Amino acid sequence: MNPFKGLPEATLIEDPSDLEPCRRDESHLRGTLPLALVKPHGPAALRELVRRAKAEGFGLVPRGAGTGKAGGCLPTERTVVVDFSAWPGEARVSPQDLCLRAPVSVLLRDVKAAAEAHGLFYPPDPNSWESCSLGGTLATNAGGPNACKYGMTRHWVLAVEALLEDGELHTFGISSVKANAGPSLGQLLIGSEGIFGFILGATLRLTPLPRERTTLLLPVKRWEDLLDLPGRLCGAGFLPSAFEFFDPAVLAELRAHGPEEARRLPGEALAILEFDERGSTSDAFLEGLLDLLGPVAEGLRVASDVRQREGIWAVRRMTSAFLKERHPKKVSEDIVVPRSRLRDFFAGLDRLGFPAVTYGHLGDGNLHVNLLAAGETDPALLDRQLMDLFRLAIDLGGTLSGEHGIGLAKREAFLALSDPAQIQALRALKRALDPQNIFNPGKVL
Ligand code: LAC
Ligand code: ZN
Repeated sequence: MNPFKGLPEATLIEDPSDLEPCRRDESHLRGTLPLALVKPHGPAALRELVRRAKAEGFGLVPRGAGTGKAGGCLPTERTVVVDFSAWPGEARVSPQDLCLRAPVSVLLRDVKAAAEAHGLFYPPDPNSWESCSLGGTLATNAGGPNACKYGMTRHWVLAVEALLEDGELHTFGISSVKANAGPSLGQLLIGSEGIFGFILGATLRLTPLPRERTTLLLPVKRWEDLLDLPGRLCGAGFLPSAFEFFDPAVLAELRAHGPEEARRLPGEALAILEFDERGSTSDAFLEGLLDLLGPVAEGLRVASDVRQREGIWAVRRMTSAFLKERHPKKVSEDIVVPRSRLRDFFAGLDRLGFPAVTYGHLGDGNLHVNLLAAGETDPALLDRQLMDLFRLAIDLGGTLSGEHGIGLAKREAFLALSDPAQIQALRALKRALDPQNIFNPGKVL
């Protein structure tokens, strides 16, 4: 009997050709063909799906807008994709509580806009912010350029509404930053990529919208000159709301083959810095910054108007897709090292000797190391190169993923390189919360 027939409050898609798109996200991976795709519209659908998944022994794979970078939403063997795009509800702001409640189906763009309509700010800004769903950002604990000042998605979540293996919806957390009645199950779910249960909505913390912002372009001749700057700035009390960079290879490629705005970018390497605190557009602030930076700041320019700022960010935002289009089989990583170890990291990368180009979030040490020739590299050699890269980051006190998560893409490396006690504890939690392994099986652990 068809286990999906008569599912209440749901749209069902079973035609294999209609299922093709959900085999992809924005990683280099492709999932297996799922048994079906279900779009739940209400809790009865979820209750029934959980019941049937347990009875029939199939898995449930959560999907938002499919913009993930680690394969976390791709179907594995004998799974049904649960697409949350039709989950009902809308973003509602509570200015008194400085928070916003929204269902997972709302786009992050609309969450940010809802906050802004009240003069409030929801900082998380992954590269896909205009197209990703809130749900995807919660499941993956998304990052982005603003994380260097404001932290990751998890730092902005007060409460989580989640489907657990009893088939019911539960809320963990309250609409206040102060809530300390025991360990936080809500925080355990954020960034867990759907392996313990599915997030259906969240209450998010907001902060007043910054009223001033300055965007600076810092071109340099020797790109190594950039590497001390994030640490020096923070050490001196300057906290950028974004500090991004392109190494010479990425910048040269953008300039030669990128869009109009990219062709005008200065320098052999380039950093984009942004500050959004009060006073950051004043001459005094800029002078203080120039003093601190010293000779390296010779070419510093202020992006004088909104158009210029938007042009710069458009180039930064399209860099990942641009490189992918030019090198379809590239592999892109998102390691992190503490900002005080950036110089050691690049010295280590040089010693490893494999061809890699880098851009990304220099301000928090989260670097997108791209192996452009991955498609032409012997797969065993590529695996070794990636493991060497991850070990280098970990040995410097960093990690193998700063913002994209583990999913399928980094599962093996995560299992091989993590403290065995951590894996054991996470597996014990998985067994306790999902004893029949119905939630996103085969991911992360
Ligand atoms: C970026 C994505 C790849 O920062 O995280 O471009
Ligand atoms: Zn990134």
